[in-house]
Amino acid sequence: MCNSEMSTPPLTFKLLATCKVSKARTGIMTLPHHAVDTPVFMPVGTQGTLKGLLPQQLERLDCQIILGNTYHLGTRPGPELMKKVGGLHNFMNWKRALLTDSGGFQMVSLLKLAEITEEGVKFQSPYDKTSEVMLSPEHSIEIQNAIGADIIMQLDDVVKTTTVGPRVEEAMNRTTRWLDRCLSAHKNPNSQNIFPIVQGGLDPKLRAESARQLTKRNVRGFAIGGLSGGESKDEFWKMVHLSTDILPEDKPRYLMGVGFASDLVVCCALGVDMFDCVFPTRTARFGCALIATGQLNLKQQVYYKDYRPIDEECSCSTCKRYTRAYLHSIATHETVACHLLTVHNIAFQMKLMRSVRESIKAQKFPEFVQNFMSVLYPEKN
Ligand code: GUN
Ligand code: ZN
Repeated sequence: MCNSEMSTPPLTFKLLATCKVSKARTGIMTLPHHAVDTPVFMPVGTQGTLKGLLPQQLERLDCQIILGNTYHLGTRPGPELMKKVGGLHNFMNWKRALLTDSGGFQMVSLLKLAEITEEGVKFQSPYDKTSEVMLSPEHSIEIQNAIGADIIMQLDDVVKTTTVGPRVEEAMNRTTRWLDRCLSAHKNPNSQNIFPIVQGGLDPKLRAESARQLTKRNVRGFAIGGLSGGESKDEFWKMVHLSTDILPEDKPRYLMGVGFASDLVVCCALGVDMFDCVFPTRTARFGCALIATGQLNLKQQVYYKDYRPIDEECSCSTCKRYTRAYLHSIATHETVACHLLTVHNIAFQMKLMRSVRESIKAQKFPEFVQNFMSVLYPEKN
């Protein structure tokens, strides 16, 4: 067959190595627009760009996949324009892989006015305060089909981790029903992959039931959602561990909204392959640089005469050219400082994930974790 699109599935996942003492694994997830080395951290863009960086700079930083934001793109420029320009890849001139979230979670977490019914998520339009918008599973998929990302997310019913009682079970079961509606509405199954999202709050029985229900569907990867919302680390890890135990080994697992370095390392050990979070780019905009021992807040006076780079060992363009003192002096000039710190923070996340992958490949992941933790949490003598 000459048309390879006809015979190649839009996602193949090849495991290259697994850790012998944890569930960590490294592999290659091949998508229509790019082959992605896993475990991977995916930076988050909104409005068709990553705040503070251009697509070509993301390529130079070795980003292989980024997140786009469905809701923003669904209303402005809108699905019609999206279709006309040939999707978000063309629109933003990003040649590599893209993932879009389904939009409901953003609405529920950003706007307090969202109302969830069996039909979908109803919210007040942020652009026109007098009109209401219904984001149904079908509408979310219509928007995501127009955007054309390599991986698209089901619309899910997410409850806060503090929610208890029957609402958690209702949301978990509704998420499965909405998955089936998303799968039926999906127009591009040969070029875009829908990932289901495991829900169930912090209840082990409901989490397990959610994972079991979703794994019965014919999909190429899975996400774990509803976490990283203020629960204890113990509960968080338990839910991730339990979910990855049930999800199939031969398909990628994506933990949504997680991006602190220590969480990335621990969750890689629990068998997660993909992560996203606004944290590294958002914290950059507040003047914070990520380093192996934690964070530097460059707005602080202590950096006034500190002529070292953010990190001596970092090879990013910010660390090669600028000192902490310079970054401190411009830290309140929003755009330039934001750009320089965003470059560094993305470089930091990419390097961390590269180190994770290389250590798994070399069968040295446990040593890597030990060293990583001892640098981040040095013993106080
Ligand atoms: N981003 C972070 N957590 C979630 C979640 O549970 N669902 C969705 N759709 N997006 C998320
Ligand atoms: Zn740097």
